[in-house]
Amino acid sequence: MNILVIHGPNLHLLGRRRPEIYGKATLAQLNAALKEHAGWLKVKVRIFQNNSEGGIIDLLTANAGWADALVINPAAYTHYSYAIRDAIEALDLPAAEVHLSDISRREPFRKVSVILPVCKAQFMGEGVFSYLKALDFCAGVK
Ligand code: DQA
Repeated sequence: MNILVIHGPNLHLLGRRRPEIYGKATLAQLNAALKEHAGWLKVKVRIFQNNSEGGIIDLLTANAGWADALVINPAAYTHYSYAIRDAIEALDLPAAEVHLSDISRREPFRKVSVILPVCKAQFMGEGVFSYLKALDFCAGVK
């Protein structure tokens, strides 16, 4: 099984961006944990980080033929990108939305996800474990 993992904007700054909210792990450490967990689950992962809406949509399109499922942290795009929402819907892949922080307990604008309606599950508030749980979910989907 092939799982596409996409990290959205500003997640390249993990480790130094508001560690009290997003944790101390860097993106490299998060990706290493994802790869190790994928090995344990016996699934393949392709992992990307992209800071632009169009870039994320292009990654979704380019990997659509390879992926059996999607794990995505759309970051700030979670709250307003109908374009990414439409792209996920068009892919017709089981998708899990991920957040390091608990967006339901933060500023009002973060409580809304326009992406969630096209996802099968949402994992949040557990840092790196939010991602690992999303991988578990996707591995069990197929
Ligand atoms: C985030 C939450 C978003 O509101 C924020 O814009 C991010 C990260 C998270 O992982 O907690 O960049 O998606």
